[in-house]
Amino acid sequence: MEILVTGGLGYIGSHTVVELLNNGFDVVIVDDLSNTERFVLNNIEEITGRKPAFYPFDLKRRDLLRQVFEAHNIQGCINFAAYKAVGESQVIPLDYYENNLFSLINILQEFRERGLSNFIFSSSCTVYGQADHMPIDENTPQKPAESTYGKTKQMGEEILQDFARAYHRKVSLLRYFNPIGAHPSGKLGELPIGVPNNLVPYVMQTAAGIREKLNIWGNDYDTPDGTPVRDYIYVVDLAKAHVAALQKLLDSGEGTQVDIYNLGTGKGSSVLEVVQAFEKANGVKVPYQICERRAGDITIAYANADKAERELGWKSDTPLEEALRTVWQWQKYLEKRKKETV
Ligand code: UD1
Repeated sequence: MEILVTGGLGYIGSHTVVELLNNGFDVVIVDDLSNTERFVLNNIEEITGRKPAFYPFDLKRRDLLRQVFEAHNIQGCINFAAYKAVGESQVIPLDYYENNLFSLINILQEFRERGLSNFIFSSSCTVYGQADHMPIDENTPQKPAESTYGKTKQMGEEILQDFARAYHRKVSLLRYFNPIGAHPSGKLGELPIGVPNNLVPYVMQTAAGIREKLNIWGNDYDTPDGTPVRDYIYVVDLAKAHVAALQKLLDSGEGTQVDIYNLGTGKGSSVLEVVQAFEKANGVKVPYQICERRAGDITIAYANADKAERELGWKSDTPLEEALRTVWQWQKYLEKRKKETV
């Protein structure tokens, strides 16, 4: 069975493609390579021994997308292709709306015309903003997103709810908490292009000496050690949740279905705890300095992921330190690769 994976060479996308291939699905990747590199495709093949179909183009090109649907017997889609930098989204909001929403609508139009169902959307815990109570479950009230990035996630969810309702299709909205880590093979991970915005890639580069010091954005939050608390989920666990969510859609009968799942570990860790766990896991130092708070950061967010466990039989149980060990292996791989390609 062929599954379209957009953004399939990106960070979470590439790990999910591996899990799909390992579970017997055939995969068709569309990725415009705007935030990744072509070698990821070869590494997917090395890991799985299978070669997905690959089309390098921008999903705003409906004409090219139509050709992909004509060439393959697509039975579902996992849609990762999107811009994701929160800060950047505030500076170039129109590009975010255009890229993240036009591409989504183009795929859905193809789905609608061809009578297809089974659509999985990458959403984010950002839809909850700073929730009033922890842990956050799927019924926790949403707050209007502060960033354009967050708004594209909220709007994406609404577009999919309408799509499911009006055309009687099945969709799954997956709200990720903070994905971290790399593939245990050491051959897939988050490709840091430019200065990383997210914590773990920045920690990785600081440990490697690429950055002088980690800036910890504030230690005066109302948390046990003063630094903000997040739910860091191992990317391979996250990838497996996509396969489980897809299988559930495929196994259920025809008609409207909207599944919503929080994907997290259920455990919160502070910024300082992440730094310490990274040092302990890898036997390296991560120099840091405490800075002013970063605008838009919330104090605390961690998931109640019981619904996913109950309905998908899925649970993330990879310990933080183990996930952080894979990050360091990935950094070593990137260094080796850089030497070889110079
Ligand atoms: C951010 C986005 C979120 C998105 C997620 C993707 C915001 C407000 N939210 O989440 O919508 O889904 O990325 O992974 O940007 N930190 C430092 N120093 C750094 C980097 C981060 O101290 O150099 C701290 C932050 O203050 C935060 C924590 O580390 O407390 C995690 O930050 P980050 O990895 O950027 O994720 P979020 O901000 O939680």
